[in-house]
Amino acid sequence: MYPVEHSSARLVLREIGIDDVDAVHAIYGDPEATAHLSFEPRTRDQVGQIIARSMVSATTEPRDEYCLAITERESSRLIGYARLALDPHQPKAATMGGALHPSVWRLGYGTETVGILLGLAFDDLGLHRVWAARAPLNTASHKTLLRAGLQEEGRIRQHVLVHGAWRDSITYSILEDEWKGAADGGR
Ligand SMILES: CC(C)(COP(=O)(O)OP(=O)(O)OC[C@H]1O[C@@H](n2cnc3c(N)ncnc32)[C@H](O)[C@@H]1OP(=O)(O)O)[C@@H](O)C(=O)NCCC(=O)NCCS
Repeated sequence: MYPVEHSSARLVLREIGIDDVDAVHAIYGDPEATAHLSFEPRTRDQVGQIIARSMVSATTEPRDEYCLAITERESSRLIGYARLALDPHQPKAATMGGALHPSVWRLGYGTETVGILLGLAFDDLGLHRVWAARAPLNTASHKTLLRAGLQEEGRIRQHVLVHGAWRDSITYSILEDEWKGAADGGR
């Protein structure tokens, strides 16, 4: 499915492009925004390479990765990066992740973004299960995932090697019928 563009009340998620490198680097090069992520702050070159790879994977069939720019609907400003990637070894399952620029945290955009990604996953792609993982200290992610309707599942021990040390991940998921039930209940 290409190109993807989905909106909510205040956000538009659209395909990422090479013109987005500086705005994405402002997030993925920032120590605060990446403090709980699975990698250290990226250089501008690294961000450019990631975006170039994302653009190739966007038009590869079958498509297994959706790397999307999170933009504000009114200003069109890029304020975040979101990714939904099909699991290579599980049928109809995907993992999601992403980050927002610290200047727009706590405005409800994180919850809104997860809602858009779940709509893409379940309504458009017909998936069965979507999951996400966060660092144990990432309280913002914990609250956002719960608020968006995911359930906490468990802990993957020493899942990530970052800043020279192994780190656990806490995982969350939502299933197709839970998403549809939330829709029937007036989401
Ligand atoms: C995680 C992130 C996407 C949340 O986005 P956000 O737009 O700030 O979240 P929302 O405004 O939708 O808030 C959702 C909930 O999280 C809470 N929250 C947000 N930031 C918080 C923080 N720093 N500390 C505690 N709670 C926080 C909100 O109060 C809200 O809780 P509520 O349901 O009880 O009202 C954002 O903090 C971010 O981009 N962080 C850096 C990257 C990252 O951690 N990505 C997730 C990887 S798993």
